[in-house]
Amino acid sequence: MPFREDQLAQRVVKPKTNLGPGFWPITALIVVVSAVMVYLVETSPLPIGLVQAGGPADSVDALFRFLGATGAVIFNVVTIYTIYFAIVFRAPKGAPPNSIGVQIHDAPVLEFWWTAIPTILVVILSIYSVKIWADLQNTAGDVLTVEAIGYQFGFQFRYPKLTTPTSELHLPVGTPTTIHVTSRSTDVIHGFWIPEFRQKADMVPGLVNTIRITPTRIGTYRIICSEFCGVAHGGMKGTLIVQSQQDFDKWFAQQGGQHAGGGGGIPLSAGTVSAGQALFGQKCSVCHSVGPFSQKIVGPGLGQIFNDPAHPKLVDGAAPTPQDAAKIIHDGYSGDIGTMPSAQVNGLSNPDIANLVAYLASLSKK
Ligand code: CUA
Repeated sequence: MPFREDQLAQRVVKPKTNLGPGFWPITALIVVVSAVMVYLVETSPLPIGLVQAGGPADSVDALFRFLGATGAVIFNVVTIYTIYFAIVFRAPKGAPPNSIGVQIHDAPVLEFWWTAIPTILVVILSIYSVKIWADLQNTAGDVLTVEAIGYQFGFQFRYPKLTTPTSELHLPVGTPTTIHVTSRSTDVIHGFWIPEFRQKADMVPGLVNTIRITPTRIGTYRIICSEFCGVAHGGMKGTLIVQSQQDFDKWFAQQGGQHAGGGGGIPLSAGTVSAGQALFGQKCSVCHSVGPFSQKIVGPGLGQIFNDPAHPKLVDGAAPTPQDAAKIIHDGYSGDIGTMPSAQVNGLSNPDIANLVAYLASLSKK
């Protein structure tokens, strides 16, 4: 049914604001349904079944619920009005198949609001999210610092004062913890996800990402690789154990953590005297004799290192135990009697250190 030009112009410029017979009841329905949904979203323990094991899980969940509530309202407004208008303004019976409804153009008030409302919403959500993120980045999380390293297909963790990496992540409850997350330099990208803390970070070779958590709930939690990383990706899981400070200290000591500075975790029982003697000739004899302490070359003589009444302590002030000797060889030494490079610089592996300690112990027995 063609319009004349003037008729068309009239209909376009001045649309009749007919909202249909049930518009206000439907609007009331939207308000009620939205209120119920917002109430449910805000009061239910979301995400369902996932406990909060510590900060920042609570603030992340608050944001999640806010998003859920906002989304619920938008969902109701859009779908209920769409269904309502589709029914009320459906084509009348007998209308020609190509007929169209009233076309509304140039409605500046309408356009203003459908631009302003989403903009305000997005700005509010941005500010809220950025605030939570900034709080996370700025919390004092440096009481304990741990490194988490991903590899195909598992996780390992390095603690300060522990030489050997651990396969489980243990954290004392109530301790603000910084976790530096990365992947082995020759490995692929993994994802480090601890759902009960709502924290996730990519593990990228050569890049260190940081997350901060404060465990508040003793228990055992999952660590999950969240990036497809190869055939066994699905099985790449780790364990986070949150325990009391006392239990944590016990575990830490078992890992060899009682020796500050490393070296304590080196297994010494497999060391042999003969291998140690050969190694001593190659690596140590340039600077150390096997005579008494006073027989110095560059460093002191080591012949009575474990049994010398004149020198009851090692150069680092610790009691002369094999573990502490291993620690000095491992870490190197720098003090008033001189400097010795670390085992890494000297090219000594942990078995090498065990052999050297066995040899030194055999000297002291003579
Ligand atoms: Cu590692 Cu998926």
